[in-house]
This record gives sequence, C-alpha cells and structure tokens, in this order.
Amino acid sequence: MKRLFPAAALLLALAACSGGKSEAPKGGKDVSPIVTATFGRDSSDAGERLFGEKCAFCHVGKSTGAMMLGRRLDESQPAELHKRKDLSADYVKQVVRAGMNNMPYFNRIELPDDQLDTIAAYLARNSQ
Ligand code: HEC
Repeated sequence: MKRLFPAAALLLALAACSGGKSEAPKGGKDVSPIVTATFGRDSSDAGERLFGEKCAFCHVGKSTGAMMLGRRLDESQPAELHKRKDLSADYVKQVVRAGMNNMPYFNRIELPDDQLDTIAAYLARNSQ
C-alpha cells in the first residue's frame, strides 16, 4: 500500500495535465500517462524495471525529460531514452551522477551504483 500511493498520485497529476493535444515536437507525445507511470513494471529485464521506477516519469511519454530532449536533439533521435540507439553506459552514468540542466543528479543513497549500472546497461543495449 505504501508503495502504491506515489504511483497513484503521479497518475492523477499526469492525468490532470494531459488535456488537449500538445505541440510537442516529437517522441512520446501520444503516450498515455498510464504508460508513463507503469513503464517497465512487469518487465523481466531488471534494467527496464528500474528505469521505469526511477527515470520513466521524466523520460517516457509526455514528460519533462522527453520534451526537453525532443527540443534539443536532432530529428532523427527519439526523445524517449529507452528508444535511443546512441547512448553508452558511461555517458548515462555520468549524466545521472552529475545531473544536466533541468535533470537533478542522483546520489548513491537515492540510486546505488549497482542499480545505476543495471539501468545504464539497459539504456545502452541498442548501441554499438
Ligand atoms: C526530474 C526529471 C528527471 C528524472 C527523474 C530523470 N531525468 Fe534524465 N533528464 C531530464 C531532463 C530534463 C533532461 C534533459 C536535460 C537538458 O538537455 O536540458 C535529462 C537528460 C538525460 C540524459 C541525457 C541525454 C542526452 O541525449 O544527452 C540522460 C542520459 C538521462 N537524462 C538519464 C536519466 C536516467 C538514467 C534517469 C533515472 C536514473 C533519469 N535520467 C532521471 C530529467 C530527468
């Protein structure tokens, strides 16, 4: 129950701001807030589950990270991190520990190294 509440609150908050079609440049704009809030929950991939828990609310669907990256990246890049094919594990770890503009950094209490390694490997899975 304790674990359910933040997810439910997030869902309500996301649902409240999802009215009307957005002028989002690309990526994730047609993704329902429910997909964002529950991303990876039932995945057999631990990296996908952790990404869903720690990062998806900013990086999946119509969310801050996806919107900001959608503006910054060139047209050929998807705005949602889990669809990227150019992320290296080292780059992901660097951004997460240092933060980037509007992205707050995560310290080792919030996100231990082993969990960050798992998320970084998941996000780098499609990169050569
Ligand atoms: C509070 C919202 C928020 C959370 C939570 C968040 N991010 Fe971000 N992230 C952002 C924003 C916003 C940007 C874009 C920064 C910019 O360009 O201004 C970003 C950018 C990034 C980038 C850089 C991508 C690029 O192309 O340069 C990576 C990598 C990244 N985030 C990984 C993660 C990971 C992994 C997590 C989970 C551990 C996470 N983020 C959690 C908001 C967030």
